[in-house]
Amino acid sequence: MMRPLVYISRSIAAEAISLIAQCCDYRIWNNDQPVPAKILEEEMKKSDGVLTTLSDQVNAAFIAGAPNLKIISNMAAGFDNIDISEATAKGVMVTNTPGILTNTTADLAFALILAASRRLIEAEKFLRNGQWQAWEPMLLTGQDVYGATLGIIGLGQIGSAVARRAKGFNMNIIYCNRKRDYRAEAELGATYANLKELLSLSDIVSIHCPLTRETKGLISYWELAMMKPTAVLINTARGGVVDEGALYEALANRRIFAAGLDVFSEEPLPLDNPLFKLPNVTLLPHIGSASIATRTKMAIMTASDLVAGLTGKLPRNLVNPEVVKDTPIEKS
Ligand code: DGY
Repeated sequence: MMRPLVYISRSIAAEAISLIAQCCDYRIWNNDQPVPAKILEEEMKKSDGVLTTLSDQVNAAFIAGAPNLKIISNMAAGFDNIDISEATAKGVMVTNTPGILTNTTADLAFALILAASRRLIEAEKFLRNGQWQAWEPMLLTGQDVYGATLGIIGLGQIGSAVARRAKGFNMNIIYCNRKRDYRAEAELGATYANLKELLSLSDIVSIHCPLTRETKGLISYWELAMMKPTAVLINTARGGVVDEGALYEALANRRIFAAGLDVFSEEPLPLDNPLFKLPNVTLLPHIGSASIATRTKMAIMTASDLVAGLTGKLPRNLVNPEVVKDTPIEKS
């Protein structure tokens, strides 16, 4: 029997590649930098399955031009880089990596909460630049995190994990979500609010919703204007949820105190982006899930779902289960 042909769009953990090699032939973009779009498109034309990362824009034309494609396995919890409706229309399974990166990403969100509120990066630069002359009563003073009100936008797995950490800091937790979550409220002691209330009441606002048509530009000029002048905005979800131009204005004019960003609407963040000029924003290069253990588990999870989908089994993390609803399929 012919072995399925897989394209792997990035150099990933060796364990994940061995898993694929057991039952598939594969070609790989063996590089730490993203594969050029044209090469990805050409490779997809020949492939039965593709393992992608969040930097690969898998648009409708790539999917439509890949006649043998059965599965796209995306090494990320988010899948806004893939045209899901086209994949579903063509019967192509799409998988992601939920759950395993929850705590690693929540750790980083909390690190950003502390860094931005307490001006850690600015303080470190100040010291390294030889600017530290003496202890001063108001030198590099920031905002308290302990006991502050934390507003979580999107109380899913990562938002809830951030809330659990916030409980240890005696924070007052409010959240907004598409649906009110009574179970999470009971477990986390979180209070439901609408977006307006959340923005005006929170000392720290942390974004954990996916990027969708509804959430694109969710935090723009008016939303930032509702925040307290002492408030801190954290985004570890997707850059597109925040209007970066409006955020730049709010930070530059000190209409909010600070921001901590791990994600951007264009990644890598172009070096001429004005955010680089501001001292009150902490910028990270999308490292939310970047622990060695978690990135290895993500690669293995992506590979095993890819193999499942190509060997007649049900991938565990299917984001468009409607494509297999009429197919008798074994659980993986
Ligand atoms: C995800 O998985 O969506 C994260 O952003 C990757 O770090």
